[in-house]
Amino acid sequence: MSKKPLILGIESSCDETAASLITENEKGSPVILSNIISSQVDIHKEFGGVVPELAARSHMEKIDWIVQKAIDNSGCKVDDIDAIAATAGPGLVVCLSVGLSFGKALAASLKKPFIAINHLEGHALSPKLNSKIDYPYLLLLISGGHSQFLNVQDLGKYKRLGTTIDDALGEAFDKTAKLLGIKFPGGPQIEILAKKGDPKKYDLPKPIFNKGGCNLSFAGLKTAILRITKNIKTDQEKFDLAASFQKTIEEILYKKTKIAFQEFEKQNNPQKKIFVVAGGVAANQNIRTMLKNLCLEESYQSIFPPMDLCGDNAAMIAMVGLEKFKLNKFDNLDYPAKPRWPLDENAAFLKGAGVKL
Ligand code: KG4
Ligand code: ZN
Repeated sequence: MSKKPLILGIESSCDETAASLITENEKGSPVILSNIISSQVDIHKEFGGVVPELAARSHMEKIDWIVQKAIDNSGCKVDDIDAIAATAGPGLVVCLSVGLSFGKALAASLKKPFIAINHLEGHALSPKLNSKIDYPYLLLLISGGHSQFLNVQDLGKYKRLGTTIDDALGEAFDKTAKLLGIKFPGGPQIEILAKKGDPKKYDLPKPIFNKGGCNLSFAGLKTAILRITKNIKTDQEKFDLAASFQKTIEEILYKKTKIAFQEFEKQNNPQKKIFVVAGGVAANQNIRTMLKNLCLEESYQSIFPPMDLCGDNAAMIAMVGLEKFKLNKFDNLDYPAKPRWPLDENAAFLKGAGVKL
C-alpha cells in the first residue's frame, strides 16, 4: 500500500492565522487530520475593520505555535509531511508574507515541495473537503472581499461569469451592521437580529437588478440604509431593517443566480448541473435555504462547505495543495506574495465609476 500524501496548509491572508494537515483515505477522499484557526476579531473590533499592521504582528506572534499545534493534533510527525501549501494571495501583503515565508522556510528545511496557493481557490475547493464534486461546476463565492460567479472548469481553470462592481457581499453585511451599531465583523449578527424583524418593513434598492447579467452591486444598499438608520429609534426598527436587508440580498441573489445558471449552461452544456456556494457569507442560513430551493426548482445539485469551513481556514488551502501535489504542480521558493490575484486572470476589471455593464 503506497503512502497517502500528507499536506500542511498555512493561511495568513487577512485576520485568521491558520494551519491544517490533511491526507486521503483509501477511496481517495480528503481527510482533515487537524484544523487550527486563531481569529484576530478581538484585536480589530475596536477599529471597525482589519488594521494591517496589527494583523501582521499577530500572525508573526502566532504562526509557529499554530503550525506546531496543527502537527501535534494530527498525530503525525513533521518529517511525514509531503508538501507545504501556503496562501500567496490575494490579501494584505504584510499578512500574506508571514505565512508564505514560514511555509517556504519549512519546505526548504524539510527538503519538501512548496506550493503557493490562491486563497480564492481555497474557498472554491473547500466543499471538496466533505463532498465529491466533479468539474465543471458553477461557483458562487461570497466572502468579505469577493463576490463572484465562476465557471470552474478544472483545477486552476476559472471563467468569471459575474462579479461585484463595488462592495463584496460580506462587506455589505459588515457595513450594514456597523450602521446598526454592531461591532466588526457584524455579518453573522445581522442574521441573528433579522430573525426578530419584519422583512417587509423597509423597501430597499436592488442595484443593477435588471441589467448587467449576473454582475452584482451592493453599494447603493448601504446609502439607503444610512438614510433609514438616522430615523431609527427602537430596537424593533433595527431588527426590521436587518430583516429587510437580508431579504433584499436574498432577492438579488435569487435573480442573479438564475442568470448565472443560464450562462453556465451556455458555456458548458453540463451533464450534471452542480452549484457550489463558498466563502464566509455561505454560512448564512437564510441565503443557504433560498439557494437550495432555487436549485431544486432548476434541477441543480447544491453543495455547501460545512459551516466551520465557510470562513477562512487552512484546510481549504491544504485541499488545493493536495490536488496540486497529485499533479506535481510545485512552486519555487521565490514565489511572491500577490495582493491581487484573480481566479480568472483574463476577466476585465469591473470596479469604480464609469464601469460599463
Ligand atoms: O470568507 P471569509 O471568512 O473571509 C474572507 O475571505 O473575506 O468571509 C468573511 C465575511 C465577513 O464579511 C462576515 O461578516 C461574513 O463573511 N459572514 C456572514 C456570516 N458569517 C460570516 N455574512 C452573513 N451571514 C453570516 N452568517
Ligand atoms: Zn476568505
